[in-house]
Amino acid sequence: MTTLSQDELKTLVGQAALKYVVEGEIVGVGTGSTVNKFIEALASMKDRIKGAVSSSEASTQKLEALGIPVFDSNEVPELAVYIDGADEIDGKGYMVKGGGAALTREKIVAAQSRQFICIADESKRVAVLGAFPLPVEVVPMATQRIVAQFAAMGGQASVRMKDGKPLVTDNGQHIVDVKGLKIEDPLAFESQVNQWPGVVTVGVFAHQKASVCLLGTAQGVKTLTY
Ligand code: A5P
Repeated sequence: MTTLSQDELKTLVGQAALKYVVEGEIVGVGTGSTVNKFIEALASMKDRIKGAVSSSEASTQKLEALGIPVFDSNEVPELAVYIDGADEIDGKGYMVKGGGAALTREKIVAAQSRQFICIADESKRVAVLGAFPLPVEVVPMATQRIVAQFAAMGGQASVRMKDGKPLVTDNGQHIVDVKGLKIEDPLAFESQVNQWPGVVTVGVFAHQKASVCLLGTAQGVKTLTY
């Protein structure tokens, strides 16, 4: 048996997600290297969909370059499906996201979608969320207070840097990445951190969890439902 590379697994799940796209409708599109594979596959059916709502400038550019129209989320009251990757997914479909710094728009588009289809290779599957540093988008003037609040929970938060400066998101904010957390109750954790002033979005997706995960494994694509 030949072993598939992580990149090949991403291609497989990106292609497998096509069957969830509803013809004649607008599809919600996430961000990241796995979603890039989905976008490439989506181009093959671009004449059978109206277009996409995108969760980042990067995905918008890629969609438009392939001739797929991108709609503003405010123009579209509801989407049938949102297709996105994850940094971690647990046994209930709760996820950590934001490794690509697009978590806020991802959560917005997920919230306007009836179904979240997660596409991931099996390295993303975990028993308990928290091994991947948790991304949190923050208003810069609140950063140090939020770092201290995570420290009180046993987490070590640091500001994500790019080219020697804090990374600036599509929304003009910063990201802190928090190590050392064990998120046993994702719903409660998400609600709690959402209350902290200056938190724009916490990268736990529990209230907007996946209902399906297309998981790329050595045995092929497994469909997990939650
Ligand atoms: C982007 O901000 C993230 O939420 C991505 O969905 C996540 O990081 C998965 O990305 P990859 O598909 O590149 O692993």
